[in-house]
Amino acid sequence: MILITGGAGYIGSHVVKEIAAAGFDVVILDNLSTGNRVAAEAVRTLLRDYDGAGQIELVIGDCGNESLLDQICRQHPIDAVIHLAAFSEVGESMRDAAKYFSNNTAQSIYLLNSLKRNRVDKLVFSSTAAVYGQPLRNPIPEEHPLQPSNVYGLSKMMIESMLPRYRVNYGLNYISLRYFNAAGADASGLIGEKHRQESHLIPLVILRAMGRRDRFTIFGDDYDTYDGTCLRDYIHVSDLAQAHLLALQALLAGNVRERVYNLGNGRPHSVREVIAAVEQACGRSLTCDIGPRRLGDPSILLASSQRAVDELGWKPQYPHLQNIVDSAWRWHRLENWPES
Ligand code: UFG
Repeated sequence: MILITGGAGYIGSHVVKEIAAAGFDVVILDNLSTGNRVAAEAVRTLLRDYDGAGQIELVIGDCGNESLLDQICRQHPIDAVIHLAAFSEVGESMRDAAKYFSNNTAQSIYLLNSLKRNRVDKLVFSSTAAVYGQPLRNPIPEEHPLQPSNVYGLSKMMIESMLPRYRVNYGLNYISLRYFNAAGADASGLIGEKHRQESHLIPLVILRAMGRRDRFTIFGDDYDTYDGTCLRDYIHVSDLAQAHLLALQALLAGNVRERVYNLGNGRPHSVREVIAAVEQACGRSLTCDIGPRRLGDPSILLASSQRAVDELGWKPQYPHLQNIVDSAWRWHRLENWPES
């Protein structure tokens, strides 16, 4: 049985689907602060089409609640944990650092200590490209120095830096996955990206196209890039989910003891190209404003994910921006979840 913290969130729900579809029983631990109860229900619904899929149980609580974790470990034979539960808004992390240190760093330490106490020795940790900060070179390899330029990245980097000690002292086997720009939605259209306060590019442009936002502002068009807007590495959320399954399998097989992997496509796309892909998806042109640069935005963030390809056998299925945006568009058109 696999414990997945944050499994009711955007990336988490896609990971739960992938892991359960592969036949693992899953316990989701989520406090629903940013996750959605409906996501867990939706995953159960879409797994009906999969032969041999595992069972999914939802436990509501904090990922660092040690007595709750002890109880879950007593009631279930937990073979491994996939730890996604975290806040992930870069801008918010700069305004309210304590929120990120408490939720992302402190809660993760309590979780790690619970794993130690309950002799769970396999962990897939959800990390981020934000640990790199302003890149010294692109594409960014895993050995690139870690100099996070925001508190979100710092809150994740602190846990990453502790994991080798948990390996040495307590035998924890772990894989950290550094996501680049997660986007898109499951092909079923039943699960996707829904945040209470949206700040990400693709959903914002889609909401603008659907008339649910009055305006969309490009944060700077004077960068030293081919069209003046920032370049990012957009990776389909289902491809991220596939990487979690591969990481889990590598840990369970004993093939990996401690490793870090970047997860991106290695293809740069500008803000303007994303807008054009949304225009293509919705069949009409959009008017956008040009605003000043957003503080802390690097002009280019591009992953080298060769290590995940070579060592985990990761093979992204949806590397093209248009496929990613089309899946997000389809999700937003179908989405009718209540606010959680
Ligand atoms: N952008 C706009 N206007 C907006 C929103 C975004 O122009 O209203 C631009 C940003 O300036 C950036 C690009 O769109 O150039 C992508 O921005 P996002 O906010 O969607 O994503 P980020 O690249 O800032 O950050 C994302 C995740 C982080 C993660 C990082 C790692 O949100 O959690 O990728 O690459 F750390």
